[in-house]
Amino acid sequence: MTAIQHVDVGGAAPYRIAIGPGLLQDGALLAATLRGRHALIASDGNVAPRYLHRVEAALRMARSDVRIGRHVVAPGEAEKTLGNFAATLDALAGLGATRDACVFALGGGVLGDLAGFAAACWMRGIDVVQLPTTLLAMVDSSVGGKTAVDLPQGKNLVGAFHPPRAVVADTTTLRSLPPRELRAGFAEVVKYGAIVDAPFLAWLDTHAEALLAGDDVLLAKAIARSCAHKAAIVERDPFEHGERALLNFGHTFGHAIEAEQGYADGLNHGEAVAVGMVLAARLSTALGLADAGDGDRLQALLARFGLPTTVPAGLDPAALLARMRLDKKAQASGLRFVLWEGAGKARVVAEVDEGAVLGVLRG
Ligand code: NAD
Ligand code: GLY
Repeated sequence: MTAIQHVDVGGAAPYRIAIGPGLLQDGALLAATLRGRHALIASDGNVAPRYLHRVEAALRMARSDVRIGRHVVAPGEAEKTLGNFAATLDALAGLGATRDACVFALGGGVLGDLAGFAAACWMRGIDVVQLPTTLLAMVDSSVGGKTAVDLPQGKNLVGAFHPPRAVVADTTTLRSLPPRELRAGFAEVVKYGAIVDAPFLAWLDTHAEALLAGDDVLLAKAIARSCAHKAAIVERDPFEHGERALLNFGHTFGHAIEAEQGYADGLNHGEAVAVGMVLAARLSTALGLADAGDGDRLQALLARFGLPTTVPAGLDPAALLARMRLDKKAQASGLRFVLWEGAGKARVVAEVDEGAVLGVLRG
């Protein structure tokens, strides 16, 4: 039996992350976050048929006075668009959502980012409760308040910081997650070990097989430990003026790969981040910051979780570099990367030499 775990995120707009089995059926927990009488449950076409009715029934049992709307978008990164953002606003308008309305974002990181951004903008900001259903969303995207949609020119180029009112991670939803998506989530879990928690890397190495097999107790531990790291960092630096940038380890390379592949085919976000972390480790070695052996160990751990660790064939290094220049982490003065100095130690390095980056991309 897995007990419910809580991680509190402090700061100007504090909230609680609840992690445990069966939480989507806990009407009291879900309704406790409702301030008004309008709730929009936003979800995607894979998640809604499985879980939306549970959330709706639980809310209705707890608060019969609430008007509940449903809004379902097609699944996939290619749907994280301005068009679907506008459609979500239309759904809020159709519901007659007032300023005390709440959006329940039921799904993976794509849905959470999209619905969170709509909540950030409707009437200049209404509540959003994140109900993550992928491992990646439970350990990363549902926490910290980054919301966004993609443009053809790049990932997450339009968005807002909009912290959730609560995060409710029902770990039983992971049982229906396709194995590839479960593996993708481990990229972000490994990231926390890589940047701030070397012992976590060893723990993950020990339990990789059981985690991939879906061991509930171990998964809940991995989620809570990851959330605790994210909570501590976003509490200290909610708007990414400094330390929060470390959470982007591997993302400059990863986002470039995703954008270059057009979001539809190829690597998903977690897989692209896995490749990106290995490239960032190799770049760190090329710049004299980390031993090659550290990068080898990181690569081996990611491979144990069934994740890709090399740039997909057919992607042009120069095109990837051009993508990186448009990444939000770049500045007028040049490319910035989160580089590392071995397990558990990372730092932001500005004005990284493009020749070194190209060298790493060319392998
Ligand atoms: P996703 O939302 O596309 O979900 C992956 C797939 O799994 C989708 O097809 C989805 O429909 C399906 N799915 C989700 N839950 C399911 C379940 N329980 N059972 C069966 N199928 C299920 O992908 P993701 O990996 O969760 O999220 C990636 C996105 O998150 C990217 O857009 C990335 O940019 C974003 N992200 C945001 C932040 C942030 O801080 N806001 C952090 C990390 C990633
Ligand atoms: N996933 C990066 C961040 O939340 O800052």
